[in-house]
Amino acid sequence: MKRKPLDGKNLSVSELEKIHMSTDIQAEYVAALTDLHSGLDRKGPGDSDFSRNILSNLSTLPLKPRIADLGCGSGASALLLAQYYQSTVMAVDSSLVFINELKARAKQLGLEHLIIPIHGDMAKLDWSVGSVDLLWSEGAAYNLGFEQALKIWRPLLANSGIAVISEMSWFTDDAPEPAIAYWQNAYPMMGTEAENVARANRSGFSVLSTHQLPSQAWWVNYYEPLRERMQQLEITPITQSVIRETEEEMRLFEKFSDFYGYTFYVLQAA
Ligand SMILES: C[S@@+](CC[C@H](N)C(=O)[O-])C[C@H]1O[C@@H](n2cnc3c(N)ncnc32)[C@H](O)[C@@H]1O
Repeated sequence: MKRKPLDGKNLSVSELEKIHMSTDIQAEYVAALTDLHSGLDRKGPGDSDFSRNILSNLSTLPLKPRIADLGCGSGASALLLAQYYQSTVMAVDSSLVFINELKARAKQLGLEHLIIPIHGDMAKLDWSVGSVDLLWSEGAAYNLGFEQALKIWRPLLANSGIAVISEMSWFTDDAPEPAIAYWQNAYPMMGTEAENVARANRSGFSVLSTHQLPSQAWWVNYYEPLRERMQQLEITPITQSVIRETEEEMRLFEKFSDFYGYTFYVLQAA
């Protein structure tokens, strides 16, 4: 789902035509990916008990922290955070489909008064400096690149504010070749935990702790519901290719989940 910015300057008409075609295909691809994930509680791997355990160890936050969930999807974390703290959560996502799902879920759970759904770009928030006590982002920072996301978000945090950010990470320095080849293509910037800790430090954070999401959570909370959803999709060439890619990702994870996965980085504004 990585998209490069397009610059139309200095390109011939035929080159521009090709780009327009490819942006159309890209838009179709994103729409198919959104469709595949619509109706699912989680749009990426995560686990509520795992998240609550992280929260239970955060001791420096105010009783009612000002919270943001960036790349919130349909609110897996935003709803949990609102419930946990009984405090307001600004929940941002670039997908209107997911934001509408979040609104419906918040209403169903009686949490509407605590959720502020924002359809927008998490890289372009015009919030005041220091206006967030707890910044949460699950499975979304990679869209900006981990370090870039941290640099953009750092000014939003209050003094000693906390950021909890999950990022695809290598758990080892010597992952098997097929896993390296796959991720070099899918997410070339994916780093080891040590590299990500260094990236966090460079971006103005100290690292309080890191936590690897257990592979069980991937299967039970994400891949299995996704597999069911695949069977309900209307098959077009583009959905077919999205399904094939997702199945390939699952096969790889089945074999190599000891070598990579989501690490949650608990960071404090330094
Ligand atoms: C893997 S999903 C995770 C969603 C949610 N955090 C969860 O765990 O269910 C990544 C989310 O990031 C959103 N996203 C991607 N780029 C974004 C951007 N620039 N601004 C806001 N949201 C973005 C996508 O629409 C998607 O909902």
